[in-house]
Amino acid sequence: MSLQGKHIVLGITGSIAAYKSATLIRLLIKMGAEVQVVITPSGKEFITPLTLSTLTQKPVVSEFFDRRDGSWHSHVSLGLWADLMLIAPASAATLAKMVTGVADNMLLTTYLSMKAPVWVAPAMDLDMYRHPATQSNLQTLRERGVHVVEPGDGFLASGLEGKGRMEEPEQIAQAVAQHFEAEAQGCKENSLAEMEVLITAGPTYEPIDAVRFIGNYSSGRMGYALAAECARRGAQVHLVSGPSSLPDPQGVHVERVSTACEMLAACQKVSNSCRLAIFSAAVADYRPEHKAEGKMKRESTGASMSLSLVKNPDIAATLGAEKKEKQIMVGFALETSSDYEEARRKMARKGMDLMVLNSINDRGAGFGTPTNKVTLIPQEGEPLECSLKSKEEVAKDILNYLTNHYLQQ
Ligand code: C5P
Repeated sequence: MSLQGKHIVLGITGSIAAYKSATLIRLLIKMGAEVQVVITPSGKEFITPLTLSTLTQKPVVSEFFDRRDGSWHSHVSLGLWADLMLIAPASAATLAKMVTGVADNMLLTTYLSMKAPVWVAPAMDLDMYRHPATQSNLQTLRERGVHVVEPGDGFLASGLEGKGRMEEPEQIAQAVAQHFEAEAQGCKENSLAEMEVLITAGPTYEPIDAVRFIGNYSSGRMGYALAAECARRGAQVHLVSGPSSLPDPQGVHVERVSTACEMLAACQKVSNSCRLAIFSAAVADYRPEHKAEGKMKRESTGASMSLSLVKNPDIAATLGAEKKEKQIMVGFALETSSDYEEARRKMARKGMDLMVLNSINDRGAGFGTPTNKVTLIPQEGEPLECSLKSKEEVAKDILNYLTNHYLQQ
């Protein structure tokens, strides 16, 4: 993979993983990139500017101005020069400052002026990483379009073991190169301009009585990430969402529903005009035949009780059977194993063009997690296995694949 001629601003913050930045620079340069380092004051405690400037053959930028002659370092011109900004390692403090816009060093002013896509590779101790403050900061950055290279699991400098270890330089360089490759293939902003898209997301709640329901653990994250990414690419998006605590993605028309029957009705209102439909909702397969009046009393039943359940409509299969010419439909298959054949049977049964398979046995994949590990299974041809990524990155992979293989004609 090549980064020929690409200008990369590499931000380095105060983390022990800064020692890996030297290898990262070597790799980026070997792939053809020009690298300009911007380092925070505490980053310099971990790796010397001399090492970095020798590797990049450019003076390292750290201060707002040169102490020797007072010349001004322009973060604005770096923002214009760059094809991409990569902050690796990104400390918890820098992530927090990126969220709130605290511009107290050259790296942060450069970030705030950046015109190019921004990538971060977090690196910190496991407790810092899983702290709600850090997680919420990462989520906010993802929602603002920052790409997050998920940290790995393993031995940490603190002596502890867990998630927080900066991803290896080879993987980071590869992710960046893949980004440029996808961009070159036309997966850019506005590549879905004017296209109408339907996305289902979240669980459904099937009422038992006034206060109880049958539901599942789906958070809606995957569907919301797909909706946000489609909107970013210029599509007109109808997101039909079951109960989810997530906010409406920017620029997306959201219809909130509760049950599978309501979800089907909401989809049918808009599906005819949609070129693309992605069914990522975790729809309950059954609903109680009758909803009890008010709240059922504990005393009204004996030691056991039975609920009579009836099958819910299959939204994907219903719309798949009514599919119009040129419509592309994508289903999700959450299985207990990576069973390609079962996913293919499901694809045929539901009239889907592509299935996104994920296994509940894969760590970090499936319901409720911010990450997912999927395999894209077309009707014909080889499945594409993707690595564990944030759901926002998975959404990009799915849409890049659809743009390249299904949506061009
Ligand atoms: O059959 P299974 O539930 O595994 O199929 C999963 C796919 O079908 C997902 O794309 C899901 O959104 C969709 N589905 C649906 N309506 C249902 C059940 C599943 O749209 N009632």
